[in-house]
Amino acid sequence: MDSHTLVEAAESFGTPIYVYDLPFIHQRLSLLKEMFKDFDFRLAYAVKANFNKDILSILEKENTMVDVVSFGEYKQVRLVGFTPDRIIVNGNCKRKEELEQYVKDGVFSINLDSYEELLRLEKVLSKPIRVSIRVNPDVDAKTHHHIATGLKENKFGVDFDTAAKMIERINTNKMFDFIGLHCHIGSQITEVEPYLEAVVSIKYFAKSMNLKLKVLNLGGGWGIDYGNGKVLDLGDYKQKIFPILKEFDSTIILELGRWIVAPSAYLVARVEYVKRTSSKIFIMLDTGMTHLIRPALYGAKHKIIPLYETKNRKKIKADIVGPICESADTFRKSYTMAEPQEGEYVAICDVGAYGYAMASDYNLIPKPKEIIWNGKELLRSS
Ligand SMILES: Cc1ncc(COP(=O)(O)O)c(C=O)c1O
Repeated sequence: MDSHTLVEAAESFGTPIYVYDLPFIHQRLSLLKEMFKDFDFRLAYAVKANFNKDILSILEKENTMVDVVSFGEYKQVRLVGFTPDRIIVNGNCKRKEELEQYVKDGVFSINLDSYEELLRLEKVLSKPIRVSIRVNPDVDAKTHHHIATGLKENKFGVDFDTAAKMIERINTNKMFDFIGLHCHIGSQITEVEPYLEAVVSIKYFAKSMNLKLKVLNLGGGWGIDYGNGKVLDLGDYKQKIFPILKEFDSTIILELGRWIVAPSAYLVARVEYVKRTSSKIFIMLDTGMTHLIRPALYGAKHKIIPLYETKNRKKIKADIVGPICESADTFRKSYTMAEPQEGEYVAICDVGAYGYAMASDYNLIPKPKEIIWNGKELLRSS
């Protein structure tokens, strides 16, 4: 998608808008398929990254699975056509009535997050159900602490001793079909080593328990390049992780979210005006932290590109900010840009994951519209 298309979207639909490049998502799916062609592999797309129905429809048609973490996500994927046997249920606090429904519907797997959840599930069993256990391998994913989930101090999953006790209990109940182990150590991971540590520890655990896993689910987390050149090296991943995956002889599942959708989208905003104070210059946009909270929440730095002619423009160093009544409503600090004029557009890049999905209407500023680019035309998303 080029900058002319983004400007056309802004002019046709108004701003702020999320614009999704759907052919990009197809490319990602092909790449993944090719990479794992020697495995019995399934992608279970992490719906939390982006629950847009047009995006989910692509995944549905491409026959992927999905990972959901709430009943809202479950209903959304059912609505676009995913059958229960393609849905993995994750989440660290599943409600009883929801567990009951997942059992009735026969989802692909309920991934148990705790011993307590196993006891809870036992109480609502009306028919046999497949379960997996989310283990917490106590691995440092070397990512922002808000999105690290595989350390023992994190609330997710169970240690291997607890997993062993859960497996013993599960195996005494004919209503359970124990299919495998799951772990998700964090998000925006740009080094292979944490994955290696996690998968090796699962391997030793499985060996020690004499487990033959039907499914090994390594969660998501693949990091993308947000403009600083740091990205998960897939060649390195293949070299270090694939030989161990082969030893399992299991169905391999990845629950990627960010890697599939993040680079597919732009948040296009209009410059309201440029404000000069005695100490700073601020570029004021008509979008803010309520539309894209990642900078405020994780200190994320998204690339921002001008959608106007920059030749012969003076460059300025400015804070790029929004209209929300919070000082955290800052996309970039001291960012060098060709000075925009009122009414011109900019695009904030790589916002397809955890962008619109985390938007709110705080300050009662409406959420942006979502626009799709299908390679030929721009359409309002359903
Ligand atoms: C259980 C689980 N799986 C998959 C993901 C997706 O992670 P990512 O978008 O980094 O691939 C998450 C994200 O938090 C998660 O909690």
